[in-house]
Amino acid sequence: MKLLENKVAVITGAAMGIGAGIADLFAEHGATLYLLDIDGPKCEAKAAAMRQAGHRASAFAADVSQAASMRPAIDAALIEHGRIDALVNNAGIYPRRAFMDMTEAEWDEMQNVNLKSLFHICKLVLPGMMERRSGKIVNLGSVTFFKGMALLSHYVAAKGGMIGFSRSLAREMGPYNIHINTVTPGAIKTEGEIIHADPKAIAAIQSRQCLDRRLFPADVAGVCLFLASALSDGMTGQTLNVDGGLILY
Ligand SMILES: NC(=O)c1ccc[n+]([C@@H]2O[C@H](COP(=O)([O-])OP(=O)(O)OC[C@H]3O[C@@H](n4cnc5c(N)ncnc54)[C@H](O)[C@@H]3O)[C@@H](O)[C@H]2O)c1
Repeated sequence: MKLLENKVAVITGAAMGIGAGIADLFAEHGATLYLLDIDGPKCEAKAAAMRQAGHRASAFAADVSQAASMRPAIDAALIEHGRIDALVNNAGIYPRRAFMDMTEAEWDEMQNVNLKSLFHICKLVLPGMMERRSGKIVNLGSVTFFKGMALLSHYVAAKGGMIGFSRSLAREMGPYNIHINTVTPGAIKTEGEIIHADPKAIAAIQSRQCLDRRLFPADVAGVCLFLASALSDGMTGQTLNVDGGLILY
């Protein structure tokens, strides 16, 4: 069964990692995709490979921290299809930095990319969803919010803000039948994780998971598909951990 047949989806940070995995699964389920990434050539390569495989995907070079940078992609989706059914806010950065070494510019960049980006893109996408009284927004948080994590105070603050924003917006947008949920991944093997995370720390995290295996973008993509599809029509304002059972509640 294809869960996103005739649906139009926007995915940010889709050139690699979890975003690319979400794009692959959404395409398999019939969605027409608008892929945004700050790395334009890599995003175009991803979309081209998907088109080669028979899927519908367009790439846009866009910085999620800049509203004007995302507008062309959103406008294209609305002009070509008249609607955006699902928005996945996946783009994010997570460079580690000790708080006492952190500059104000590093703090601000983290908030702008990981949190304020939601302000910008929701302002662009929500008017159409409100008009049609239909929409699914899936935000990519992080389980680090529930326990805290050293060297990531700026990141965890942004991801916690995302959960608060999602819950509040879910209340505001519920009357318009717009569903807003957050997926909080644990340690997922992606290009970004390989650059930023310490392998020993990853092994320690895995030892605390219920499931004794690494997690991959496809693991997160499955839950995003559920939240973008009609299967989750009764849910909004929720936060779902995809962490192999690292945090249980
Ligand atoms: N990998 C993990 O273990 C993990 C765990 C928890 C949460 N997450 C979250 O999942 C999301 C994806 O993580 P990932 O590991 O796939 O990262 P990644 O670094 O592998 O990929 C991120 C993608 O986002 C793009 N991007 C970065 N800044 C951007 C910007 N300003 N505008 C547009 N695109 C931008 C990058 O070019 C890249 O293609 C992030 O929000 C991250 O915080 C990841």
